[in-house]
Amino acid sequence: MFYLCRQMRILNKNNLIIAVDGYSSCGKSTFAKKIAGKLNYKYIDSGAMYRAITLLCTKKNIISGEKINIKALELLLADTDIDFRFTDTRNRHETFLNGKNVEDEIRGAGVSDYVSQVSEIGQVREKMVSIQRRYGKEGGIVMDGRDIGTVVFPEADLKVFMTATAEIRAKRRYKELKEKGVDANFEAVKKNIEKRDYIDSNRKISPLKKATDAIVLDNSNMTVQEQMGWFEKLLSKLNYED
Ligand code: DC
Repeated sequence: MFYLCRQMRILNKNNLIIAVDGYSSCGKSTFAKKIAGKLNYKYIDSGAMYRAITLLCTKKNIISGEKINIKALELLLADTDIDFRFTDTRNRHETFLNGKNVEDEIRGAGVSDYVSQVSEIGQVREKMVSIQRRYGKEGGIVMDGRDIGTVVFPEADLKVFMTATAEIRAKRRYKELKEKGVDANFEAVKKNIEKRDYIDSNRKISPLKKATDAIVLDNSNMTVQEQMGWFEKLLSKLNYED
């Protein structure tokens, strides 16, 4: 069905919108970044934006346990800007919150523990989606997240839905944290992933779900190279203008 729809559409290879959605820690950003590099497209990590807002909430003390002060959050959102800037030191785009580089801070446990909770809030999603659509206006973009193919760009030219078992995702995340020198505990990492899966898939607004026209990529037993081969095959099946 997917191939039928997409093959009927005539696409311009230079400005496709590619949505990559899926569960936490299943390698979406590695995959999406590689695709963007291959096609010379912009790459936007929408999860980093939700992480940046969460960081701000923790810094301003507006989260207390399971409760978030919505009034204070609304005021914060009105005054908040998130963007991605190229940094020479690391030769990559990094996340900036109100002009400050927060790339490292947003990856820590302090943010991971609360990010799904903050992402459930309608006002937060509204603001993030409007920024994300601005980035996608001209096409030539790969964006990864949870609702990119369903809500942000329902008309995306190509939608990939990524998944892998929770055990494998936790192992990958644990390894990544250890390599960064973070003092991580495997069971805690796995619990966090399972909790986020549950909240992300069951929240009222824009829950994580496969768009009907998305193609599933289960990379539990695939190398990055194999995933790229899979993607190239997919790309070659689309119908492009001359
Ligand atoms: O991709 P990530 O794990 O860095 O995302 C962090 C959190 O942000 C994730 O638990 C859910 C939320 N998120 C979301 O709700 N919608 C998106 N488009 C991207 C992320």
